[in-house]
Amino acid sequence: MINLVGKLQDIQEEFGYLKRDKLDEISRELKIPLARIYSLATFYSSFSLTPPAKHSITVCTGTACYIKGAGEIVERIIEKLGITPGETTDDNKFKLETVNCLGACALAPLVTIDGNYYGNMTPEKIIEALETYL
Ligand code: FES
Repeated sequence: MINLVGKLQDIQEEFGYLKRDKLDEISRELKIPLARIYSLATFYSSFSLTPPAKHSITVCTGTACYIKGAGEIVERIIEKLGITPGETTDDNKFKLETVNCLGACALAPLVTIDGNYYGNMTPEKIIEALETYL
């Protein structure tokens, strides 16, 4: 099993996600059913079965951010992009995620887009910020 996890990590690192054709190759090489490989791949959150999005949006929904309106910010993003946390837009342009704390609570509510910090975010400002990435 360790060998399988290592091979999945190699694929994830090289392509940014677990490509189906590579999983087929591993299945044949290690003589492990594909369903078992998928079962392992979906168990670990560090593996992704879909290609990485061009832009990654992370909304902090930790306590400090939540009480300052992070929930409304998430709702605006859902309305604007049509995806919920954990999903990627159909054109693969945006992925939305939520986290429990980004470690900069003084900036609450806080959002990052491609690692850039947007502090003191509001439902209005998130739309402006997103439009710079469209
Ligand atoms: S709770 Fe949001 S940055 Fe800490």
